[in-house]
Amino acid sequence: MFVVLGTCLFLLFSLQTQVFVSSTCNSDDLQGLTGFMNALEAPIAGWRLVNSSSSSDCCNWIGIKCDSSSGRIVKLQLPNKRLVAHFSDSFSCLDQLKTLNLSHNFLEGPLPVSLFHLVNLEVLDLSSNKFYGVLPVTIDLPALQVLDMSNNNFTGFLPAGLCVNSSRIRIISFAVNYFTGIIPRPFGNSRMLEYLSLASNLISGVIPKFLLTLPRLHELALEDNKFNAINRIGSSYSQLIRLDVSSNGLSGNIHDFFHSFPKLSYFSAHSNNLSGMIPSSLLNSKTISSLNLRNNSLHGSIHFNCSTMVNLTYLHLGTNNFSGKIPANLASCPKLKALNLARNKFIGQVPESFKNLKSLSYLSLSNCSLSNLSLSLKVLKHCPNLSVLVLTMNFYKEQLPADDDLRFKALKALVIANCKLIGSIPSWINSLTQLQLLDLSWNDLTGTIPSYLGDLKYLFYLDLSNNSLSGEIPQNITQLESLISRVISLEEPSPDFPFFIGRETRLQYNRIDSFPPELDFGSNLLTGPIWPEFGNLKKLHVLNLKHNGLSGTIPSSLSGMRSIEILDLSYNNLKGTIPPSLVKLSFLSKFSVAYNNLNGLIPMGGQFSTFPNSSFEGNRGLCGYFSGKCLKNQGSTQTPASEYDDEFSIPWLPIMAGFGTGFFLIASYFKN
Ligand SMILES: *[C@@H]1O[C@H](CO)[C@@H](O)[C@H](O)[C@H]1NC(C)=O
Ligand SMILES: *[C@@H]1O[C@H](CO)[C@@H](O)[C@H](O)[C@H]1NC(C)=O
Ligand SMILES: *[C@@H]1O[C@H](CO)[C@@H](O)[C@H](O)[C@H]1NC(C)=O
Ligand SMILES: *[C@@H]1O[C@H](CO)[C@@H](O)[C@H](O)[C@H]1NC(C)=O
Ligand SMILES: *[C@@H]1O[C@H](CO)[C@@H](O)[C@H](O)[C@H]1NC(C)=O
Ligand SMILES: *[C@@H]1O[C@H](CO)[C@@H](O)[C@H](O)[C@H]1NC(C)=O
Ligand SMILES: *[C@@H]1O[C@H](CO)[C@@H](O)[C@H](O)[C@H]1NC(C)=O
Ligand SMILES: *[C@@H]1O[C@H](CO)[C@@H](O)[C@H](O)[C@H]1NC(C)=O
Ligand SMILES: *[C@@H]1O[C@H](CO)[C@@H](O)[C@H](O)[C@H]1NC(C)=O
Ligand SMILES: *[C@@H]1O[C@H](CO)[C@@H](O)[C@H](O)[C@H]1NC(C)=O
Ligand SMILES: *[C@@H]1O[C@H](CO)[C@@H](O)[C@H](O)[C@H]1NC(C)=O
Ligand SMILES: *[C@@H]1O[C@H](CO)[C@@H](O)[C@H](O)[C@H]1NC(C)=O
Repeated sequence: MFVVLGTCLFLLFSLQTQVFVSSTCNSDDLQGLTGFMNALEAPIAGWRLVNSSSSSDCCNWIGIKCDSSSGRIVKLQLPNKRLVAHFSDSFSCLDQLKTLNLSHNFLEGPLPVSLFHLVNLEVLDLSSNKFYGVLPVTIDLPALQVLDMSNNNFTGFLPAGLCVNSSRIRIISFAVNYFTGIIPRPFGNSRMLEYLSLASNLISGVIPKFLLTLPRLHELALEDNKFNAINRIGSSYSQLIRLDVSSNGLSGNIHDFFHSFPKLSYFSAHSNNLSGMIPSSLLNSKTISSLNLRNNSLHGSIHFNCSTMVNLTYLHLGTNNFSGKIPANLASCPKLKALNLARNKFIGQVPESFKNLKSLSYLSLSNCSLSNLSLSLKVLKHCPNLSVLVLTMNFYKEQLPADDDLRFKALKALVIANCKLIGSIPSWINSLTQLQLLDLSWNDLTGTIPSYLGDLKYLFYLDLSNNSLSGEIPQNITQLESLISRVISLEEPSPDFPFFIGRETRLQYNRIDSFPPELDFGSNLLTGPIWPEFGNLKKLHVLNLKHNGLSGTIPSSLSGMRSIEILDLSYNNLKGTIPPSLVKLSFLSKFSVAYNNLNGLIPMGGQFSTFPNSSFEGNRGLCGYFSGKCLKNQGSTQTPASEYDDEFSIPWLPIMAGFGTGFFLIASYFKN
């Protein structure tokens, strides 16, 4: 209290010259607010000091609430107000404050010690600012219930004092800061604590028993720290419902202690260094609904006891060292909705029993050494709710089955990439009327791109790159409805884990609808023209046609692809000029027409001023534009920018060594 009083007197004294004490606003409160206002870079609308003795009715100011009997300020809430300030010490005067919420602003500086002595404070939210510095050892906030300091730049140890004097605290978040050290012992006194997040800090040591067994704690978020072990909890019980210890340095076996967690529903320990087998208490947990052990070195049996695991819904065991056959009994977990077993050493086939996975919506079995694609699809077509199926890196050199009865009614995403599949694209794909995403890239598929793909009205992501597909691009592709007017409103499951596709490392999104609308036909044997109707695809973000045998000219109508960000037409046989209309594509960030037979001027302006030389190299007659003149081929890297020519379509000499580089050095010189 001494500190608080001292500060207020000091402030009152120092501000006397500017501010008259008002009758409607408590003087201590007004001093506190004045100090805060003076620190702000821009004033808060409606906050005005009146210099007569009559008003300054701060109780009516925005974000402020006073107690009706005492007239003292009890709430100060200014979240999301774009406040910019170096924090002042004046809050100590607001000693009746119960709620202080300044989250989501641009406040900075170390926190004043006096802030930790507001004896009436119940809610303190300073999250998402730019505060830094260490927190004081001594904390006297006896009424505090909610403390959120997440998303700042605090350093040093967690404040041990917090849980000595704040015996009523229920919710604490220190997430996303730079706290170091271990979890202080006094945290074990927080008998009322329900939620604790220390996620994304640098905290190390052991995850202590005293925390796991707090009587009211139901959510503990410790992910993304430096913990190296978890205490056993012996015969005690934990009331936790959610426990996240992922992305730490945990190693060794997972303790067989899950019978001591009678309420645990969510357990995530992915991206540690855990080894050994999944303990039996976890394979038999009645309560677990979401289990994520991805990216460890676990091995052995995954015989989940589905007659006890009645609530198992999300299971991610990907990137481990599990081997043997995929256990058939997984199919008797009645609620299983998302299953990811990718990147393990399974062998054999998809078990027949998977037919019974009535709730299954998401399945990834990438890189599991599976065989018999035909059988796998026949089994899985019985799963009535299957909407995402990822089978990348299996079924080496098999064929996509041709059976016309492969109808997956609910399928929204089908990924069978990087399997070296042979044969052609079968016609049953046509029956996947809900399909939004199809990735058959990195196979050896032959034949043509089926024109019916253009009829799949929800399809917005199509990757057929790196195959041996030939013939023309079917014109129907340019009628893909969701690339013309994308109206995807279909709800989909969102498993708690990421969705990898392509070659498993290239793309990682949590939901199908977060993929960019894309057509990728690169690295095939396609011939024929680029249809002018591609210009209709207003919602397309990525068009990749590189490394094919496409001919004809680049249609100027491509400027209709208003959302396009990546357009790659390199390594084809395109001729003519680059249509100047492409300058209108304002989102275009990657563009290449390299290695074609183009000539004429490279358009100027728009995004074109940002493309590197390599976007244009390897053409016989392309030229840059400078001072109203077309720049002629130099044929040498040594003498740039010396000759100009007014003509556009000079029949250039065959490409000379060094031409590309030489010319495009000049082009980039022009940009500056
Ligand atoms: C009080 O406010 C009036 C107008 O708002 C201003 O003209 C005057 O100078 C102020 N007086 C003092 C002492 O600040
Ligand atoms: C602070 O205000 C924000 C924005 O209104 C709100 O979302 C948040 O829950 C508040 N903090 C607390 C601890 O109530
Ligand atoms: C608890 O509060 C008392 C009274 O203000 C203070 O003397 C003591 O240092 C505080 N303890 C801690 C650990 O902060
Ligand atoms: C936070 O701290 C980190 C490293 O200590 C620094 O790189 C970063 O700029 C700081 N951010 C802010 C907003 O002060
Ligand atoms: C991972 O665990 C193994 C033994 O379980 C150990 O030898 C290795 O050093 C650990 N690696 C790291 C990075 O902690
Ligand atoms: C897997 O875990 C390691 C640490 O064990 C981490 O460095 C890596 O980023 C994780 N990978 C993924 C894809 O999460
Ligand atoms: C299973 O989940 C339901 C709904 O989420 C819940 O009410 C029930 O208590 C859970 N059962 C067990 C054994 O945890
Ligand atoms: C995976 O298991 C094999 C034997 O099946 C073993 O040789 C290898 O060391 C294990 N790898 C890891 C990372 O645990
Ligand atoms: C599976 O759970 C049932 C019911 O709780 C139990 O009777 C059975 O012994 C368990 N099986 C295994 C292999 O643990
Ligand atoms: C496929 O799995 C094997 C063995 O599990 C692993 O070594 C390899 O890195 C994985 N490949 C990819 C691309 O994930
Ligand atoms: C796939 O499995 C089916 C049914 O078990 C079998 O008839 C067929 O021969 C298998 N095909 C291959 C290529 O192994
Ligand atoms: C392709 O487009 C034409 C003309 O719009 C249409 O008649 C036809 O049904 C479409 N589908 C296929 C599979 O060709």
